[in-house]
Amino acid sequence: MVHYYTRKPIPMSFLKSSVLLLVISGVCLGCDQWPNGTDKAIHWWECSNGPIKLYNVTVMNQNGQPEYPILLTAPIQVWIDIDNPTDTFTDPNLRAQVNLWSWNYAGCSWASVPTFGLLRDLNACDFATCPINPGRQWVKVTIDFTQFQPIINVLKDNMPYQLQLNLHDKASGDNVCVSFQAWCRTK
Ligand SMILES: *[C@@H]1O[C@H](CO)[C@@H](O)[C@H](O)[C@H]1NC(C)=O
Ligand SMILES: *[C@@H]1O[C@H](CO)[C@@H](O)[C@H](O)[C@H]1NC(C)=O
Repeated sequence: MVHYYTRKPIPMSFLKSSVLLLVISGVCLGCDQWPNGTDKAIHWWECSNGPIKLYNVTVMNQNGQPEYPILLTAPIQVWIDIDNPTDTFTDPNLRAQVNLWSWNYAGCSWASVPTFGLLRDLNACDFATCPINPGRQWVKVTIDFTQFQPIINVLKDNMPYQLQLNLHDKASGDNVCVSFQAWCRTK
């Protein structure tokens, strides 16, 4: 008993560092992986179910060299291998909308990024090679986020981002949706 009462109190600094350690390991346990391997490579999937089918998405810099992480501080080229069974998509009927999310590390989830209405009802043919005729082909899209400086300003550097591209053809009513998750540099 005497021994118990004479024991030294636990130093405050030790307590503080244990609490800190618990907090850090708590975060790591909650979120021990980057989403879909985005620390190593781009992850994409088709979020529409036809009629257009997507086979491959490759992101390149302005010089046509594959790049990862993706640098949003300069224009990028996105090459999409598609099979378009029936309709021809032309300027200005092909409209685009882009939705953005950033990775919330603490919550281990995606958080919506404000786009200030700048990425709604865009003329897709301003960015893509149009017309898009029926058949299997590579569609080349140029994305220049520097045109959307208010958005770039709110994007933290060196983080995974999720981008959803929705295309709608007003003439045929066809829709295409593709989601991308990729590590991006924004500064
Ligand atoms: C990972 O990708 C799949 C589609 O391949 C998607 O359904 C899922 O929501 C993604 N997970 C995260 C954490 O983003
Ligand atoms: C996608 O296309 C690129 C460029 O042609 C090629 O290097 C890559 O292997 C393709 N990926 C898949 C999964 O087919």
